[in-house]
Amino acid sequence: MKILAIETSCDETGIALLHASGTVRAPRVKVLENLVTTQIPIHRPFGGVVPNLAKREHLKNLPILFGRLRAKYPRLKFDLITVTVGPGLEPALWTGITFAQSLAKEYGVPLIGANHLEGHLYSFLLSQKKGATAASTASAGARKNIFPAIALIVSGGHTILLKLDSFTKWKRLGETRDDAAGEAFDKVARLLDLPYPGGPEVERLARAGNPAAIAFPRPMLHEKNYDFSFSGLKTSVLYYMREHAAKPQGNDKKMTAGANAGANVADVAASFQEAALDVLVRKTIRAAREFGAGSILLSGGVAANKALRSRLAREAKKAGCAFFVPDFKYNLDNGAMIGVAGYMAYLCKKRYKMEARGDMEI
Ligand code: KG4
Ligand code: ZN
Repeated sequence: MKILAIETSCDETGIALLHASGTVRAPRVKVLENLVTTQIPIHRPFGGVVPNLAKREHLKNLPILFGRLRAKYPRLKFDLITVTVGPGLEPALWTGITFAQSLAKEYGVPLIGANHLEGHLYSFLLSQKKGATAASTASAGARKNIFPAIALIVSGGHTILLKLDSFTKWKRLGETRDDAAGEAFDKVARLLDLPYPGGPEVERLARAGNPAAIAFPRPMLHEKNYDFSFSGLKTSVLYYMREHAAKPQGNDKKMTAGANAGANVADVAASFQEAALDVLVRKTIRAAREFGAGSILLSGGVAANKALRSRLAREAKKAGCAFFVPDFKYNLDNGAMIGVAGYMAYLCKKRYKMEARGDMEI
């Protein structure tokens, strides 16, 4: 079946067209189009996403993206529309829902809601390998028992560890008790005077630094649960930056290089990233070992972090687990991932209410 998918939960407007087939146990998806407009430049001056600006931009961008799709496919047809109903910013979510409702009416097709976090969770199914889709890789994997699988979803709003017994049956093992992993990257970026969104900026700066330079704490690493906490780590970075603030020297009060030149920000970025990844990777691997996982699934915006991807891939291999992560273009919010979530919801007859739910859970 052909699915039109719409995503407007945060600061990316996404419309995708997918071809979906297969069963709940072996879903297959082919992305035909994945149009995304980012609002990052609009929110950057504010250091974060401004909900009403996001809403305004989605309202403007949705018809533009859909128009582009129609221009490419003059006889555009689809069998189902799916739209993110949560979690996310409610004013932003409503723009997508209302737009989807009017399209469903215009095209006379059914509309179902999708959970944004399920979109991230399933996003690895979108990655296409040469000659075969990752779906077929995963389905082939399913025969080799990728389940139970341990899924780490790390985004700007969430940090969640799940144990999946199948594509549709899971248990939440743990989550963050305060800041999400991406939020911690964004806040640390602000402390280092880096622009929003901070994750990619911190990662870039970290490449030039020494990850062992500063011993930042690894919150909750040794606790027996699978919860996370990142706010203490962020506060440690704040204190470190205060302690090592560049001090004006002499009478001219200008910052000068030398003993008081301040913190080496590349070392701070690298050491922070190392501490955050240490906790994420080690807790995920511990869960994989405890539950005898066949695979580890990584998703969410922070999954774009190359250090996290490569470290978790390496550790998964050591633990005897297959490792699945979406292609880079599917890590950040996009319509295609909502298409898979919608397809799965359609297959298991899961019907979300057609209303924005900012705090929806997975
Ligand atoms: O999934 P996403 O696009 O939006 C939410 O659903 O929240 O994730 C955005 C988050 C932001 O906090 C951003 O800083 C973070 O993902 N992020 C990264 C990287 N790229 C994006 N964090 C660390 N390293 C990256 N390379
Ligand atoms: Zn997201």
